[in-house]
Amino acid sequence: MLNLARQLIKRALLRRVLAEDARRRAALPAEWRDMAASLWGCETTTAGHLGLQGVDLVELAARHGTPLQVVDKQRLQRNYSEFLGAFQALYPRTQLATSYKTNPLPGVLAALHEAGSYAEVISEFELWLALRLGLPGERIIVNGPGKAPGGIRLAVESGVRIINVDSLYEIELAAEHAARVKRVQDVGVRLVTSVGWSSQFGLNIASGAAREAFAKIAAQPMLRAAGIHIHLGTGIKSIPTYVRAIRECLEFADDMRREFGITIRMLDFGGGFGVPTVRTRDAWDGRLMAFGHPARQALPGDCPSPADYAKPIVDLVRAHYPDAATAPELVFEPGRAITSSAQLLLLSVLTRKPSTDGVDNLIVDGGKNVSMPLEWESHRIFAASRMNDAAVGKCNVYGPLCHPGDIIDRNLALPPLAAGDVLAVMDAGAYFTPNEMVFSNPRPAAVMIDAGQVSVIRDRETFADIVRRDALPAES
Ligand SMILES: Cc1ncc(COP(=O)(O)O)c(C=O)c1O
Repeated sequence: MLNLARQLIKRALLRRVLAEDARRRAALPAEWRDMAASLWGCETTTAGHLGLQGVDLVELAARHGTPLQVVDKQRLQRNYSEFLGAFQALYPRTQLATSYKTNPLPGVLAALHEAGSYAEVISEFELWLALRLGLPGERIIVNGPGKAPGGIRLAVESGVRIINVDSLYEIELAAEHAARVKRVQDVGVRLVTSVGWSSQFGLNIASGAAREAFAKIAAQPMLRAAGIHIHLGTGIKSIPTYVRAIRECLEFADDMRREFGITIRMLDFGGGFGVPTVRTRDAWDGRLMAFGHPARQALPGDCPSPADYAKPIVDLVRAHYPDAATAPELVFEPGRAITSSAQLLLLSVLTRKPSTDGVDNLIVDGGKNVSMPLEWESHRIFAASRMNDAAVGKCNVYGPLCHPGDIIDRNLALPPLAAGDVLAVMDAGAYFTPNEMVFSNPRPAAVMIDAGQVSVIRDRETFADIVRRDALPAES
């Protein structure tokens, strides 16, 4: 009886959540309300397939195999220039640094460097990759909560623009290497403010740890205290969060000037900016899925644009640095805001398993091994091979991995798909590629579409690639 009452209350609450979502969605322009393919610059081909820049994505899947990552170079570079342009219009000394961890495909990184971006790296490998892509040290920013000694050495030897330290030990290492190469190294401190990520990240302003770091840097003749860095989180859609953190940073920078005579030359306010077409799920989405509903999709109007962020942030910076000639360089490290919508993931249906509860099960050829963020985010999924067909009933979509958590999405309204049909998971450009894993399957290929021309930018892993580093123990 008690259980029944609980179920009824839960269902009533879920109906309220759904009604509220429907009410807000109904007020949106049709393209946003329907999360139309045009939001990603996609079209429907005459064959009724999803197309991008005139390329039929179903044919592309047939030619290159699936799972397949597809990058839209124009959208990537447009996202970059729109973000940068919004800030540069108000604060010309703004630069963006490409967050390597968000999407480490060299083809993607090179396209962003071609557009003018710095590199933001958090490991010795990423630093090596930036150098290998031809970036000079002065365009590389070194971050990360745990910098290995080898990485700090390479950073100093490469003359990187700045090393943003996360702990006091990194200051000593940087100073040691700077003395060895006889070159003063610019150093910043990743600050922890009253909002955003803390734990293993950065040094806290309130606890005095950040002040101690600046005191230590100021005492090192071969280091120059030059920067302040924050990175608040990811998928953030709140201007007040940034404003609050940045205000605290700027006040702290004033304190450091007064106490140690430190001139901040770079204000790096990190990344974290959410994207309009991806929703970070909450507990209600989990409950909705458990009760046979799809999780809620993003409401695109909830996400501030780069221009919405630029005005209040630049106003704050200008208030602290009124003289444009001596004002610091402003840097952002937007990852997903640049790469997310510029990439999609194609998956093929392997089979359809009818069920008795009205929700059929589709098994596709890629699961969590290629789409880890689908664990916590809602992404728009199109039936790429049947764009003109109406949805009939609901489907759960599972990957091929042999564990129950291998879920792409649940309770999706889809046309009657069968083996050979192709799905497109949109917004696959952030944290999909770096989270890929070899779970019984090779990692996927990636292609880039540039003005309608397709290039392979990553080959599909071969079986031999998977075992390349392995050896059988020597026979005794
Ligand atoms: C230091 C730093 N900068 C930038 C980013 C990019 O974040 P996002 O993709 O949320 O913009 C991250 C991601 O974790 C990060 O740790």
